[in-house]
Parts: sequence; C-alpha cells; structure tokens
Amino acid sequence: MKLVFATNNKNKIKEIQSAILGKMEILSLDEIGFSGEIPEDYDTLKENALQKATYIATRFKVNCFADDTGLEIEALDGRPGVYSARYAGSQASAENNIDKVLMELKGESNRKALFRTVISLKFNNRDYFFEGIVKGQILESRTGEEGFGYDPIFQPDGFLQSFAEMSVAQKNKISHRGLAVQKLVQFLDGKIT
Ligand code: IMP
Repeated sequence: MKLVFATNNKNKIKEIQSAILGKMEILSLDEIGFSGEIPEDYDTLKENALQKATYIATRFKVNCFADDTGLEIEALDGRPGVYSARYAGSQASAENNIDKVLMELKGESNRKALFRTVISLKFNNRDYFFEGIVKGQILESRTGEEGFGYDPIFQPDGFLQSFAEMSVAQKNKISHRGLAVQKLVQFLDGKIT
C-alpha cells in the first residue's frame, strides 16, 4: 500500500519509516513532485493537520496523512502549543524557539510539559484522526545532538535522557508522533487484507 505523508520534514519521514517498518510505502512530498508550502491557517492541531492532508489529497488524488504537533508547557498556560513552529517569530529557527522557552522558564520550578501530535488521515475519501501524547519536563539547558525542534530540551517522564539523546527507534517507542503513528498503523493493518 502506498500512502503519502504530507510533510517536507526529513526527520519526520525518517521517524515514520522506522515506525512502519516496511508494512507500507510512505511517499514524501518530494517523491510525488510537490515542493511548495502547505498552508496551516488554524489555531488547533486537528484543523491544521486536516488542512494539510486535504490540500495534498485533493490535488494529487491520493490517500494521504499529515501531522501537526505542539509543545504544551504547564507554567506557560499551554504555550507554545499550536504556535510551536513560530514561537519566536515568523522566521524563527528551532534554536530561537528553544531560547525563548528557556528564557520564559528561567527561575520557574514547574517544568512540566507535554508534546501532542494529531494525525489526520484521508483514506478512500474519508477522514480519520489519531492522537499521541507524551508527558515530560523542560530541561534547564540543551542536551543531546539527535532529533529536531525542541528535542534537546524535552525529557520524557521515566527517562534520564532528552529526546535529542535517543535514537530514532527509542524515541518512536514513546513519543507523541510514535504513539499517534502506532494508532495509524493499527488502523491501516485492519484495511490491508
Ligand atoms: P509541526 O508539526 O511540524 O508544525 O511542528 C510544530 C513545532 O514543533 C516545530 O517547531 C517542530 O520543530 C516542533 N516539533 C514537532 N515535532 C517535534 C518533535 O518530535 N520533537 C521536537 N520538536 C518537535
């Protein structure tokens, strides 16, 4: 089975291919010849994920899924949340976003946070959604070189390493996107007969 993952993020493609382990062929946007930006105009993860999946499914007439992820920090009333990608401004890099979070949490003892991913799947013209959450703590400073985004400052509960100190396979087992993908794969397993 072929399924398009509506993302340009190579790290996400790598994570999902590792989670799916050859059960189906995941095509990136590059591989279907799309190189533009997909709009994300909403203020919920679910609506943004649906918008991205619909955008590609409609143009390319393919089964397709998209994800949207947010980091919700308790002491910041759930920020950056759906605005995680551009928390430090419209051109912000991951480095800028991390700097802003660390600055806002300076001297704060409540470091509780969670990552939430919503996957929107367009499958045979119907919509399905899968959510994954991982709880953890925001570290005082960056640790580790792997991963992407906020990984160097997020330590999942029950572990002594940040996400950026974990291999893709380790992160997938427990991460927000890993858990959402496991639900997606379980659903698709039922469809492949
Ligand atoms: P999006 O889902 O690509 O829009 O991600 C929103 C923001 O969260 C971006 O800044 C990403 O870098 C960040 N992000 C998404 N997934 C992860 C992850 O697994 N680890 C760390 N940061 C992430």
